[in-house]
This record gives sequence, structure tokens and C-alpha cells, in this order.
Amino acid sequence: MKYGYFNDKNREYVITNPRTPWPWINYLGNEDFFSLISNSGGGYSFYKDAKFRRLTRYRYNNVPMDDGGKYFYIKDGETIWSPGWKPCRTELDEYECRHGMNYTVISGEKNGIKTSVLYFVPLNTWAEVQKLTISNNSGEKRKIQLFSFVEWCLWNAAADMENFQRNFSTGEVEIADSVVYHKTEYKERRNHYAFYSVNAPVQGFDTDRESFFGLYNGFDHPQTVFDGKPRNSVAHGWSPIASHYIELELNPGESKDLVFVLGYIENSEEEKWESKGVINKRKAREIIDRFDTSQKVDSALDELRNYWDNLLSIFTVDSGDEKLDRIVNIWNQYQCMITFCFSRSASFFESGIGRGMGFRDSNQDLIGFVHQIPGRARERILDIASTQFQDGGCYHQYQPLTKRGNNDIGGGFNDDPLWLILGTTSYIKETGDFGILDEMVAFDNDMSVARTLFDHLTVSFDHVVNNLGPHGLPLIGRADWNDCLNLNCFSNDPNESFQTTENKSEGSKAESVMIAGLFVAYGRDYADLCRRRGREDEAARALNLVAEMVDTIKKFGWDGEWFIRAYDFFGRKVGSNENEEGKIFIESQGWCTMAGIGSDEGMCKKALDSVKERLDCEQGIVLNNPAFTKYIIEYGEISSYPAGYKENAAVFCHNNPWIMIGETVAGNGDRAWEYYRKICPSYLEEISDLHKTEPYVYGQMIAGKDAFRPGEAKNSWLTGTASWNFYAITQFILGIRPDYDGLIVDPCIPGSWKGFKVVRKFRNAVYNIEVLNPNGKSKGITELVVDGERQSSNVIPVFGDNREHSVKVIL
Ligand code: BGC
Ligand code: NOJ
Repeated sequence: MKYGYFNDKNREYVITNPRTPWPWINYLGNEDFFSLISNSGGGYSFYKDAKFRRLTRYRYNNVPMDDGGKYFYIKDGETIWSPGWKPCRTELDEYECRHGMNYTVISGEKNGIKTSVLYFVPLNTWAEVQKLTISNNSGEKRKIQLFSFVEWCLWNAAADMENFQRNFSTGEVEIADSVVYHKTEYKERRNHYAFYSVNAPVQGFDTDRESFFGLYNGFDHPQTVFDGKPRNSVAHGWSPIASHYIELELNPGESKDLVFVLGYIENSEEEKWESKGVINKRKAREIIDRFDTSQKVDSALDELRNYWDNLLSIFTVDSGDEKLDRIVNIWNQYQCMITFCFSRSASFFESGIGRGMGFRDSNQDLIGFVHQIPGRARERILDIASTQFQDGGCYHQYQPLTKRGNNDIGGGFNDDPLWLILGTTSYIKETGDFGILDEMVAFDNDMSVARTLFDHLTVSFDHVVNNLGPHGLPLIGRADWNDCLNLNCFSNDPNESFQTTENKSEGSKAESVMIAGLFVAYGRDYADLCRRRGREDEAARALNLVAEMVDTIKKFGWDGEWFIRAYDFFGRKVGSNENEEGKIFIESQGWCTMAGIGSDEGMCKKALDSVKERLDCEQGIVLNNPAFTKYIIEYGEISSYPAGYKENAAVFCHNNPWIMIGETVAGNGDRAWEYYRKICPSYLEEISDLHKTEPYVYGQMIAGKDAFRPGEAKNSWLTGTASWNFYAITQFILGIRPDYDGLIVDPCIPGSWKGFKVVRKFRNAVYNIEVLNPNGKSKGITELVVDGERQSSNVIPVFGDNREHSVKVIL
């Protein structure tokens, strides 16, 4: 069953039934000020950091689901309703939610009154703008009472949920004109406040939650709304809110617009106050003035649309399959921007307080984002690298507000350093900007020990070399990419976190074949970069070490039919036919086949066939098989999940593309495509009931064949799945791949495809690429013609001339 439809022309998903199987959300803002918004108006806003600068409150996992948001209540005689259906849940005559590129429009109609709210964060603005349009579609004159509502969060989202003995006494507001200012803690250690305004006179307001709702009422029953009378309450402590009360008279056919602005202001110490105890409102007024008419709001929305037109014109495919085109051209690229902005911090599955910007996560996110805004990718690479340690090791995450590494979700993950090579080389291949390698970059944010970014790549590479185990394979550390394969953890205490509890690494023999594969792949990239920088000796050293690793994998990482996954603390095989459960894992098959390890000896083919036979199922490729059914203390978190979920044999969508790419390296276009299509959300729209999460974005996992309910997805939006699938489809299946000297064209498609077209903007030129497949091939180029000239290789040269170039490819 579907709950809406794609409108590709507007780049929107239009939800027509508010009772979606899970809140289907969107993200507003793409720089500093952000909001999450569900299809019924639930969600919250923050400035830069969802933990430290939370502006409005949200109640995760509440009853009912998705409570707390930017709500409007309409009182029309005795009928009380909300345009997004929630929170009132009054049955609407019409409902529609349109999620677009960083904007959302929610509309409801009841008894001839239609209310439509456009929510977005204008470019370069620390505020969310809400344009509410109310229309009288009935034949008579109507009087309507309108109440707005937001609830302030006391800034630190974690403390806000915990420290009630303090919080209930600190809340402070100011009210002036039609604006409510939230200034809790402004008089002492904070230099920021928030505000919520409307561009019209109000006939009343409320700023105290209890006065607005009544202590024992829910969001669906604000007493003031039911009474039709605001209390004009002024919050002192407890829970401050902001609600405007506006009386409207509408003639038949008449429409009125109101513009609400929810903003965030920082003032310097000298400029904090207007007078004693009265905050300086100058900057707030400036923002309010910028959006005080509908025309100004509409032109800000146009700017946002142009911004997205531009970003989404960099890579477009015309394949003749609308489901593929819409995911590649619109939604997958959009999701890549979102994962770039948020890493794994704030979604409807990530609370915004647990995880900031992940070292490995943010590097991987770059491969789906770097073509969009290379300048921001550049800054991100330098920020990430600045948190690295001198020995190449890493904090697992850093906080977006401070850009400093912290240990809150652990450290010592031995795959982390290698992803910096991927992030950096992807950036240089896109831009040709080798200069980034000469930037001086701190270690652990300490500039006094700074070295070049190139040196950071060297210590990343060497971190593996310096941490090899008994077989010569990389020691796994706390874990590799699979955070839940905790081979040194041995946790028997439910009060411990698998991610941060002390590891037993003394005497550990735990080694990772996945990191070994990663080392081969990115070690080669590192060597290539060395050569291009004239560092022949270093390139040779790196290639020798990579060659040794290839031998080691063939010797100790091969199980006969597939690559083993790891060695445990005691040096016993993990992911081998010898094991009872977890005989085969996806990660090592992915990395070793992508790197083509043992392809001459038939290892890659066998490994990929084993994946097909043992891991593939209707829903996609599961992570391991057989799933673990009992807790294995020497494996840790992976065996704590029920079979078929999360890292224990779910279809983990992040690593499915590793196999897709492995299949393209082996030339199997049909299989690569089959795997791609299986987990791609636009192909799952018809089973939204089962799939549960948004049909326009990937989730981290889909319950696998061993699960109670195979096919159910979770953890949508913030997942490396977004960038890896974009990377797999564009660079390996469609095969348009940025490289240092140009665009490589190397498609690997199903034999039945007749061809496709791609428009790619690359280093200041536009390439109109047409691929034809007259002979039903999957891979291998017969002819490449650029601007009428036949090329001797499959690389389209860099022109950089701001012109369009025609590229004809025959497979
Ligand atoms: C999850 C992993 C995640 C880790 C991060 C685990 O509980 O299963 O997917 O990477 O937490 O902290
Ligand atoms: C999600 C985490 O964000 C990522 O870092 C990790 O690699 C995967 N889970 C697998 O455990």
C-alpha cells in the first residue's frame, strides 16, 4: 500500500494519508540552522548541534508517536483542528504533506477552511520561516481563531531531559510586539537567545505551557484553544513556550497569509542588553524584517529552489526507468546532503544527543556529496583530520559545535584512519585540487603539532602497518566498520556499553580481514597519490606493503569458498565454515572483491557466488549467515541482536553496495543491478506498509530473512547507505567515475539495457554522455567518442572551458 506519490517535476514526495506507518520526515536547512519535520508537523529545531543548541523540545519515542512540534491550532466554532492532522487528530476533509528539497508544505482542509503551512530555512539564515495561508473556500463569511505553538528546549537537549530540579526554575522569556523571546540562561553564561514572531498584531499570547494546555491535557487538547481564550501567560520557570493568538475574519473566497519566524541570535558580550534585564533585539528584528511579507518569503523560497536546481544539475541520468531516475537525480543526492550535514546525529532514530560527527561516517558521506559543494567537502576533510592523533588513531566522533573529538562513543576502531584516504582522494578526483594535501592540519586540535594533510594520510596508512597481528593481518582494535563485532570486549555486564567499555587488547590476537581489504584498496590509492606528488619511494614502500597484505589475505584470509571475516581474541577464525553460526560475513567479501584480491585464482568469483548462495534473499543481502541465535561473549554486540536485525543478519544497506561494486569489478552487471534494485527505496514504495520508513530515502537496515518480519526497514536517513549506493550506481553501474585526469567511463549494466544518458558537470565543463549497448553487453567499452573524436582510452579529458561536450559511448 502507498501513502502518497512521487512528484518528480517538483522534486517532492506528496503524502496523502497522514497515518503513515512511521513518521515520514524531512530536513530543513543545510548549513547552520536546522529543523526536522514530520508529515504531521512534529519535530524540532537546533543551531549547528542537536545536543548543545536545541531550540525546541521534542519527545522521542512517546505515546502517541511523534509528539512535540511546530503546531497550529484552528478553532472554527466548536471544531478544533490542525492542518497536519496531528496533534488534534480531528478528521480532515483534505490532507496533504509535500516534502521537497529542504522545505515542507503541510495542508489541511476542514469545513471549507483550508490552511497550508510552508516550512523552510532560507539560505544563509539562522531561522525557520513558516508561511501560513488560510483560505475560506466556503460560501459565507467566517470567523476563525488561530493559535501557534512551539515549546522551548532549555538549550542542552540532554540536560533538558534530566535535570528537572534545576530546569523547572530557570526558564525566562520576554514578550514584545508580536514576538516571544526565549532567554533562559542568557543573563549568565549564554550569549544566545531564540525568538518566535508573526508579522501581524496578535490578540493575545501564551508563554507558559501549563497555562496554555492545562496541566493534565495532551497536545491534542490545549485548554486555551478549547476555551477560545489565550491566558497572556508569562513563563517564570517550569516550561516556557511561545504561542500567538490571532483572530481572523475571512470573506467567501478570501485568503490571508501570516509569516511566522523561529530564529536564533548570538550577541557579543558588549551587545547583550538593550537595558538592564532587557535583551538586545536588534538582530532578531533584522531577521523578522527580512521575512515580513509573503513576497519576501516567496523570493527566499525561490532562492532555495534555484540552489537545489543547481546542485541537482551536476549529475543527472535519463535511463527510461522513472524509479531509477528519481532516486539518482533527486532523492539519493538529497539524502547525501543530509548525511553530510548531520552525520549520524539527529534523525527520528538518532536522538541528537548520542552521536555527533563520526570519523569513519563523515569520510564515507563525502563520496556522495563531494560533487555537490566541493568547498564544503574540503572544509569537512580538514575538520575531521584535525581530530586525528599523531599515531594515526582517531576519536570515533567529534561534536559539530566545537569541532573537537570526544570519547563519548569510544575510540580505537582500527578501520577509522583509512577512511580519511577515501575522503581525501574522492575530493581531489572531483576537483583536481591537490593543494589540499599541503594544508597544515592539527593533531587532536592542537596546531602546535600540526603537519600537512598529506602527512595525516601517511600516519593513517601506517596506523595499519604498525598494528598488525599474529597472521600479519590488521589488528581490529575495538571494532572495525562493524561496530558490533567486538572481539576484545568480553562484556558480561548489561550496564556497560559495548562501544565504550574497556577492551581487553593486551595479548589479543583479534585481526580483521575487512580492514585488510580496505588497506589494499586505499593503500593503492595512497600509493597512487604519492606517485602523483613525486614521492616515488613512498609509493614503492606503500605498494610493497599492500602486496604483502594481498599475500597474507590469500594465505590466512581465505576459507575455501569465501573470505573469512576475522580472527578472534584467541586467534580462532570468525566467519569460516568451521563456525557453527556466522559462517560467512558480507564485509570481507565486499572489500576483497572490490580490491580484486585473488581474482586470478578464482577467489573473487567464488566469494561472490557464496554471497549469492548464502547471504542474498528477497529483501537484499544479509550481513552474516547463519544469524547468531545465542550470545557469544567473545563476539560482543553482534550476537546481542535478535536474528535478522541490525548487525546480526539484517540486510545492512550500507554494505550491499560493496557487493554491487565487487560484482561490477567482476563484470556481472545483471547481479549488481539486481542487488541495487532490491534495496532501493523508490522500488519499495508499493510495500510501504511493510517497509515502514520513507519510500524516498534509504534506511540503515531492512529486516532480513531470519527476522520475525522480513522487509521492515529501520533507521532511515542518517546512514552511510546513502553515499555508498549513490557511489555504486553512478560510478560503477552507470560507470561515470571522476578520476585525477578526467572522467572514467566504465559502465557495468544488465545485458538487457539498451543504454542510458548522463549529464555530468565536472571541473567547469558539461559532459552530455550517451551510452549505447547495441550488442547486449554488460561491461567493456568498444568506442568512446568525445566531441566527434575517437579516444584511445576510456577517460574523458578535463576541458575546464565552461562549455558543453558530447560524449558517445558504445559498449
Ligand atoms: C549499532 C551500530 C552503531 C553503534 C554506534 C550500535 O548499537 O548497532 O550500528 O554503529 O551502535 O555507537
Ligand atoms: C552505524 C555506524 O554509524 C557506522 O559507523 C558503523 O560502521 C555501522 N553502524 C556498522 O556497525
